[in-house]
Amino acid sequence: MIISPSVLSANFADLKTDIKKIEEGGASWLHYDVMDGHFVPNISFGYSILGDVRKVTDLFLDVHLMISDPKKYLNDFIKAGADLITFHYESCDDLDQVKSVITEIKNQGIKAGISIKPNTDVEAIKPVLADLDLVLVMSVEPGFGGQSFMPKAIDKIKTLRNWIDQGKMECLIEVDGGINEETGKQCKEAGADVLVAGSYIFKHENTKEAIESLK
Ligand code: DX5
Ligand code: ZN
Repeated sequence: MIISPSVLSANFADLKTDIKKIEEGGASWLHYDVMDGHFVPNISFGYSILGDVRKVTDLFLDVHLMISDPKKYLNDFIKAGADLITFHYESCDDLDQVKSVITEIKNQGIKAGISIKPNTDVEAIKPVLADLDLVLVMSVEPGFGGQSFMPKAIDKIKTLRNWIDQGKMECLIEVDGGINEETGKQCKEAGADVLVAGSYIFKHENTKEAIESLK
């Protein structure tokens, strides 16, 4: 299991210390939640802080764009050092736009992911599954850390696992929101490859133990 700690729950005034903690705790990815106050009702951080993060870590930078018009900012996040950019299906007008964002990300030599909100059916992204490196299943409404896991994510993970295995695709399944030891285990059993966890990891007194408990 790949663990991607979300720095949305880190101490922004001492981010480097928290990044070191997750590195030493055995995480290989870092989940970077970008919120614009428009697509979601909260504002987090943008690409310039990502550039600073890139300078202090070799962790795989897993960028989750919760923004309207993702295409407009792709180059900024890629230049800042993103390894993977995941954008929201719901931020696009139609499937053609979804396809063009995926192509633009991949043409720049990094990985492309798409995310679906809790009320979006997995069927919506089936036509582009083979083009993706990752699908991010939201198990909370995007916008805030510390919410409770929505069990309906489990069926989506199972469905995606089936499609990906049957189609012999490379696409990873990532789950984000309300992940702790118990919900993480349920996602693992359903077929997830990557778990995002923010408050569970950063509120735990022992970061290594928290990360280990999700693997
Ligand atoms: C929510 C973000 C998540 C958030 C998860 O909109 O996409 O990545 O940080 O936080 P927890 O793990 O606390 O639910
Ligand atoms: Zn996220």
